[in-house]
Parts: sequence; C-alpha cells; structure tokens
Amino acid sequence: MDDQIAKAAGLLRAGRLVAFPTETVYGLGGNALSDAAAAAIYVAKGRPSFNPLIVHVASLEAAKRHALFNTVALRLAEQFWPGPLTLILPRRTDCALSLLVSAGLDSVAIRAPAHPLARALLEATQLPLAAPSANRSGHVSPTEAEHVRDELGDRVGMILDGGPCPIGVESTVVDVTGDAPVILRPGSITVEQLRQITAGVSFSVPGGVVKSPGMMERHYAPSKKLRLNAREIGEGEALLAFGAPLANARILENLSEGGDLAEAATNLFRMLRALDATSARAIAVMPVPEQGLGVAINDRLRRAAAD
Ligand code: TXA
Ligand code: MG
Repeated sequence: MDDQIAKAAGLLRAGRLVAFPTETVYGLGGNALSDAAAAAIYVAKGRPSFNPLIVHVASLEAAKRHALFNTVALRLAEQFWPGPLTLILPRRTDCALSLLVSAGLDSVAIRAPAHPLARALLEATQLPLAAPSANRSGHVSPTEAEHVRDELGDRVGMILDGGPCPIGVESTVVDVTGDAPVILRPGSITVEQLRQITAGVSFSVPGGVVKSPGMMERHYAPSKKLRLNAREIGEGEALLAFGAPLANARILENLSEGGDLAEAATNLFRMLRALDATSARAIAVMPVPEQGLGVAINDRLRRAAAD
C-alpha cells in the first residue's frame, strides 16, 4: 500500500484528482490550495459552483492555519477529531485555501479524517485536501472503490482502494461560526454525542435559509422511486428492510436483520445502489427508528425519496 500512497501523493501534488477512502465515504480529493484542482473537482462531479467543498486536514493544528476556532469549535474538534465531524468555520483573513473551496462564502468546512489511508495521504502530501464525496452530484455517496469507478472512473487520476468504508454515512456538518452550534447535516456523530460536549446544539430550520448549499431537498438519490415507511410491499417493488423483513419480498436487501443502526449505516448506500440496479419498478423502505445514527439514515432516505 505504501507505493499506492506515494503514487497518489505524487498525483495530488501535481494537481490531479485522487479518490480516497475515509471512515465515512470515499472522497474525490484535490489540492485545496489550488484553484485549478478545486475547479477540476466541481467539473468531475458536475457539482454546482455554489456548493462548497470540505477540506481535509491532518490535525487541529493544521486546521488553525486556515480558519478561526471559537471555544465551542475547539471543544468539538478536540473531542471528535480525527473523526467524522465537519466544522464550518470562519476563514482566516490570511487563509491560503483556494476561494473556490468556499464557493463564495466567508466560511470553510474542515475535518480531520480518521481513516488510516486518508491520514497517510495527508501525511505524504503535506497538503490540505479538498474532498467532497466521490459521486456525481446528487447521486448516492460511494462506500466502495467500485462505486467510484462506476461513476467517476474516467475522471480521476487514481482511486486508492481501501475496501468498504467502515461507517458508511457522511460526516456530521456543524456550523460553529456563531455562538451556538447548528447542525447543518446530521451524520455519523449523533446529536446525543454532540450534546455531551456542548449544550444548545440545534438543527438548522428546514425551509429556512439554506446555510449549507448542499442540503437541497433531493440528494443522495438512486434513479428508482423510493417509498418510505412501507408496511407492505406493492406490485413490482423491491424491499429495503430493517429488522425482520416484510412478507413476500421478491427482491430484498436488509440494512440490518438484528435492527442495528451502525450496521444499517454501513450498508445503506451499497444496498440502495444494488436495488437500483435490479429490475424492480420502485423500492419500498421499512421504517428506521429516528434516534442515534437513525437520524442520519432517515435524512438520506428522505432526500433520496424526495421528488
Ligand atoms: O463524510 C464526509 O463528509 C465526506 C467525506 C469524503 O469526508 N464528504 C462529503 O462531502 O460528504 P460533500 O461535499 O458531499 O458534502 C459536504 C457538505 C455539503 O452539504 C456542503 O454544502 C456543505 O458540506 N458545506 C461545505 N462547505 C460549507 C460551508 N462553508 N458552509 C456551509 N456548508 C458547507
Ligand atoms: Mg456529497
């Protein structure tokens, strides 16, 4: 793997794009200091230019070179980094990150990933790496190298294959530019975990000002229609089960037979892809409890089901 890391680092330093695994999903990485590399990410994903990118760094120390941390931000970073928490922070006036990663905002999204290959790549490049999820814009996030190959294979210099991502849903995005932290995207760090560190964590108001441009209604979407909270299976529907499956499913994937939310998160995007590739007319989804990781799972399912 060392030679793979060295090759990937060389490509990134030369301004090319490299997809790499994180603990959440695969990212489409590029040098975050480079306008050309940031622009190439938007083009490769077909991502609207108003939707900013997450910058991955090795440590809190590295993040402080680019952004300002208030007390709450510091506490959260110290507790959850390296890990699946993205902080929206004010850019420093001397911030060297490409303005394109912020898409015109005066803030920047930063996280320190925990995945050993992501960390090895940050270490080998000594660069901050801009990396949105490595899927075409609006599609389901990739949790395996194969998913990236299917969607972006011809648009990346290299795909660093680290096997399936251990968590499977994206990081939690928390805006800490104000006094009280606001969750812009539920993710693998749960509200309960955040509340243990900081009181007064709130969710951004649905239908209010969209503070996170990526949180448009329809997103994370397979091409087949999804029907949520299914209690029975309709004509021509495949089933995405959670727990004991509904009767009469001809085409079935089970997020977790034992009703385990962490297992369900790991399986979610892979199973959506698998069911999307079947002959079924639509996908019926059994209810998933709205607690812990279930909040992030249900968020992705609702977006996938939106018209
Ligand atoms: O787990 C993850 O977060 C993965 C891995 C690869 O790190 N990345 C990921 O990136 O999911 P992406 O680009 O698919 O989602 C980033 C989200 C988007 O909803 C985007 O709008 C939001 O973060 N975002 C980025 N910068 C922002 C900013 N300055 N202010 C508000 N929201 C921002
Ligand atoms: Mg994404």
